[in-house]
Amino acid sequence: MKTDALPSTSTEDYLERIHELIEEKGYARAVDIAEALKISQPSVTAMVQKLADAGYLNYQKYRGLTLTQKGRAVAGNIRARHQTLERFFTLLDLPLETRERDIEGIEHCLSPVTLSSLARLADFFEANPRILRELTAFKKRPASRRVNPPAGR
Ligand code: CO
Repeated sequence: MKTDALPSTSTEDYLERIHELIEEKGYARAVDIAEALKISQPSVTAMVQKLADAGYLNYQKYRGLTLTQKGRAVAGNIRARHQTLERFFTLLDLPLETRERDIEGIEHCLSPVTLSSLARLADFFEANPRILRELTAFKKRPASRRVNPPAGR
């Protein structure tokens, strides 16, 4: 792993979970990370070693791990992104579980311009609750039958 490369999706997932675990419990062990990410413990240990080599965290066997400044910066960015998507998805009034799963699925793939656009959309609806109520009521009306985009575009 190149130190100056952009963090990959799995790097981001790891740093996001580790950051959460440290905040919740004060520490992050391989076993907790494995459980949170549903990945085997040996794979977690290998990845944690890679992240340590890339300067994202400090890792001492049997003593747990901590994020470096670089690791915290990445984790902070991911959190901000996650929160923006949460604000946006909240507008859509989706089941909590679906919302969280979908956010985790797309949060690493969105470009900054899309993300800031979604944030502005959330700003708009948060500032105009009446319009949001109109949207919510509109969604309860029967949907138009044309689900697919018009043919021959
Ligand atoms: Co996330």
